[in-house]
Amino acid sequence: MAFATSQVVRGFSSSAVRNVVIKNVTIIGGGQMGAGIAQVAASTGHSVTLVDTSDDILKKSIKTIEGSLKRVVKKKFADKPEAGEEFIKKVVQNVSTSTDVESAVQSSDLVVEAIVENLKIKQDLFTLPQHTIFASNTSSLSISDIASSTSRQDRFGGLHFFNPVPMMKLVEVIGTPATSQETLDSLLNFSKVLRKTPVSCKDTFGFVVNRLLVPCIMEAIRLYERGDASKEDIDIAMKLGAGHPMGPLELADYIGLDIINSDPNNPLFNSSDLLNKLVAEGKLGRKTGEGFFKY
Ligand SMILES: NC(=O)c1ccc[n+]([C@@H]2O[C@H](COP(=O)([O-])OP(=O)(O)OC[C@H]3O[C@@H](n4cnc5c(N)ncnc54)[C@H](O)[C@@H]3O)[C@@H](O)[C@H]2O)c1
Repeated sequence: MAFATSQVVRGFSSSAVRNVVIKNVTIIGGGQMGAGIAQVAASTGHSVTLVDTSDDILKKSIKTIEGSLKRVVKKKFADKPEAGEEFIKKVVQNVSTSTDVESAVQSSDLVVEAIVENLKIKQDLFTLPQHTIFASNTSSLSISDIASSTSRQDRFGGLHFFNPVPMMKLVEVIGTPATSQETLDSLLNFSKVLRKTPVSCKDTFGFVVNRLLVPCIMEAIRLYERGDASKEDIDIAMKLGAGHPMGPLELADYIGLDIINSDPNNPLFNSSDLLNKLVAEGKLGRKTGEGFFKY
């Protein structure tokens, strides 16, 4: 771990402050988001350890990363396929895998949690003794609530990536009242090193993007549920009428209906019977082959 001096991004402080230069990153959870974060961190020269509950899942994660890198290389190295192959090899070499969280976090500068959206399971994870910065990629849980299981709340923040991580430029960096300035600066800086654009937000429900996006998706589901418009027409309307690149129902499938529905008691999200039914049937969107649409 090393320290650097950097100019701070708008919203926190205007003075130059120290932040931790992050080299070794442990990512816990090798699913959609974890694999994407691992790919981006490894592509920018970080040494990454990806942790999940079984070797089979981790093999799948590595396959996902390789598949995604092949797509990147096709574009970036179109006229230099050998350099592309070399790039993939180098990036994959930067990723090691483990099913043992405790040993995986030992030499980490930063631990990013991207496991299932469940407060208790996330809290259990962060009771591990650690000297590094912890960051959760949660979409809908409170960072303070997750951090409450650790005594090192000054080194705990949110690092909210968007799906698919290699394509989406935004990272929301979330600070709780207990998060130190140094931790926030480190997370902002790390996001920039990943060639993302960070924005800062307090630990408020849904942060910026989901606070605005999820109510829109839920209203689209209710329109469809009431039979006011077909799912195809709802998506066309928002693409052509509001300039969105994806319709809200297609986007819901993309995000994962279980993720959208992970806090059904929150009035902001105000769930629907149709959404509950699809989730109960395991129709979670793209990742299971069916949600509002079939894939
Ligand atoms: N999917 C999205 O669009 C999206 C966007 C931003 C943030 N997020 C957040 O990212 C997190 C992960 O979402 P996802 O879509 O990648 O889910 P996912 O289901 O694809 O992956 C979760 C992974 O975590 C693993 N896991 C579960 N418990 C674990 C444990 N105790 N230790 C280690 N690994 C464990 C699972 O085996 C699985 O591989 C959630 O908190 C979610 O809110 C998701």
